[in-house]
Amino acid sequence: MDLKKTIKELSQNEKKVLLTLNILKGKASPEEILKAGDLTQEVEVMNAASWLRSKNLVKIEDHIKTVFSLGKEGKQFLQKGFPEKRALKIISAKGSAKLSDLSKDLSKNEIPIAVGWLKRKNWANIKKDRDTVLEITSEGKKALKIQTDEEKLLQKINETPNIELDKSKIKSLLTRKNVLKEKDIITSTIVLTDDGKKVIYSGIEIKDEISQVTSEVIKSGSWKNKAIREYDINAFAPNVYGGKAHPMIDLIKEIKEIFLHMGFEETQGNYVEPCFWNMDALFIPQDHPARDLHDTLYLKVPTNITVKEKKLLEVVAKVHENGGITSSDGWGYKFSKQEVEKALLRTHTTVNTIRYLYNNPKPPCKVFSIGRVFRKENIDSTHLPEFYQIEGIIHEKDSNFRQLIGVLKEFYRRMGFEKIRVRPGYFPYTEPSMEVEVFWNGKWMELGGSGIFRPEVTEPVGVKNPVLAWGLGLERLAMLKFELKDIRDLYISDLAWLRKQPKI
Ligand code: PHE
Repeated sequence: MDLKKTIKELSQNEKKVLLTLNILKGKASPEEILKAGDLTQEVEVMNAASWLRSKNLVKIEDHIKTVFSLGKEGKQFLQKGFPEKRALKIISAKGSAKLSDLSKDLSKNEIPIAVGWLKRKNWANIKKDRDTVLEITSEGKKALKIQTDEEKLLQKINETPNIELDKSKIKSLLTRKNVLKEKDIITSTIVLTDDGKKVIYSGIEIKDEISQVTSEVIKSGSWKNKAIREYDINAFAPNVYGGKAHPMIDLIKEIKEIFLHMGFEETQGNYVEPCFWNMDALFIPQDHPARDLHDTLYLKVPTNITVKEKKLLEVVAKVHENGGITSSDGWGYKFSKQEVEKALLRTHTTVNTIRYLYNNPKPPCKVFSIGRVFRKENIDSTHLPEFYQIEGIIHEKDSNFRQLIGVLKEFYRRMGFEKIRVRPGYFPYTEPSMEVEVFWNGKWMELGGSGIFRPEVTEPVGVKNPVLAWGLGLERLAMLKFELKDIRDLYISDLAWLRKQPKI
């Protein structure tokens, strides 16, 4: 301990507590310190004491004490007397009494209790003839004349509620229901440590010093002739955690900003869609494995959603069957119009894009959407059944593949990733198709798909020019940004854990 420094850093209240403790022989309860010292509130004593404890000048010893006060029955007994005593009075009038005589002063419930205790205390003998008869004993006679120990105790507890008592001395009262109320309270004793004693012996003085510079202190000029206590900027202070947005929300905001700055507009869509918009309009063949129950979550209620765009439906059906209005050969199967109405939870945000194109077929447009999608995935360190996609399109007269690569590279560059590569991919709705990967921590990570929409997708919705499209995984990106190894960590709601994550 640096004695000089420790003394210098003591507050007025800490000094007062130390000096008072010294007077009280180095050990006292907060109440005792309050009484003997010149602090005004117990919280001041406790605050100062916990600071002193953190400086190792005092110890605070907590102990539990069991205290008692009168319960409902106890209060009754105090007023009317114990039932056995009241019964005894009736018996003593003639030396004996029948059970029925007791009802003069005792209720139906009290009689068996009184009889039980009369026997236990040996105040009366019980004889059974035709009736049950109670006869007073010599013990009983004595008891009538005096205040019994139990009666004295009851009175004492009544006079000092929350009194600390030895349980073994009040055993018989404790066996009776609702006579006593028991409560555990924690009391503290503040004890000077050796360091504390050293501080006191080297002399501490209580000066009238300013510990907080308030406007009054400045206005009145009192600071001119008083000492000002130094701030201890290394003093311990508890962490304060204000409310803040979930890190994923922050990330989504950041991504939105980037697209908005790059000249994009935002669109949104619904979680529930008919199969038509999520699959058929995107030229996904009706026997595609992604449509399988194992991959897509279909709804029970409603099972079906009517497709209102009847004309488009006809056109799309033909495109699937034989290419229809396009120069394609289609998939060459019989298109089912029942299949299109199945209600599902959207499996990708590309459904927002195709709806947008149908409603806005004229170029130029640059739109993006960030939304949750659903797939029947088993949960593991890289898969969740619900996740976000960052979706976007560029629809311009002369858009081309190089532009698509450029825009995606620019997006990731703005997100803080310099090394990006693309490799060929496959999606039923794009041609060419590619996968985007970023290099992070010595590894290439796949972040999403993209490509140019096929004419089988664009022509039915009245779009004549090439449309550049992409759908990127948000959680994967978040894992890289926040340096997480397990995707599930993104949605842990354990605050203590979250606060320990440097990036989150
Ligand atoms: N929809 C694709 C997916 O969910 C991504 C994608 C979007 C691919 C747009 C190409 C074009 O993985």
